[in-house]
Amino acid sequence: MEEGYKDKKRPSGHDISDTFDDPEDADGAIRPNLWNSADSPDYAPDFIELLQNANIPPKLLEAAEKHDVLDELAETVLSQHVSDNVLELANTASNTHYLEACRTADVEPHPARFPRDLPEFFIKFLSEPGDTVLDIFAGSNITGRVAQDLEREWLAFELQKKYLQTSQFRFMDIKEIERMQDEDQSGMEDFADIEPTD
Ligand SMILES: C[S@@+](CC[C@H](N)C(=O)[O-])C[C@H]1O[C@@H](n2cnc3c(N)ncnc32)[C@H](O)[C@@H]1O
Repeated sequence: MEEGYKDKKRPSGHDISDTFDDPEDADGAIRPNLWNSADSPDYAPDFIELLQNANIPPKLLEAAEKHDVLDELAETVLSQHVSDNVLELANTASNTHYLEACRTADVEPHPARFPRDLPEFFIKFLSEPGDTVLDIFAGSNITGRVAQDLEREWLAFELQKKYLQTSQFRFMDIKEIERMQDEDQSGMEDFADIEPTD
């Protein structure tokens, strides 16, 4: 991101708008290069506040300020915190099974999918094989797919039926989807209608 970004629809289907990099207009989105921004000439962090938040002793802060090395201290201390606590994951895959399935069925993919590595990290971290993983905002159900791959049971809740329907692609062969398309000329409207179970 050092050279900025181009506001356009990505091959992955994500629509990156021209407000993406503007924190004022980002609607709660976190800048992708938050941690790298300390390198930017425009960024003027309050090193003392950052170091106080990281529980650096006041005497050390005073000494660093006196010797004009606050920025070096912040870089050393905070890079440890950041590398320990931040997952940096790309979300740019454009040739996944799910996307291929959506293209095959001629339906829009879910617009805000997570990269696979995100649920994978937390499922491995927080559960054991045989446990049940619940995602109450399942979207395209990458959580369920990863949970199943990692031998967990899973439950997926999703408000929008169209996302729930197409999430089933994650558990189907492309050939199976092609066959359904050929058989059902009415398109995807009735595809895999999901009825509540007992
Ligand atoms: C950011 S998306 C989740 C994306 C998902 N992790 C994936 O990778 O496909 C959030 C989803 O939550 C759904 N949602 C919002 N409010 C909900 C609610 N009250 N109950 C269930 N789902 C809801 C939205 O329709 C949307 O699909």
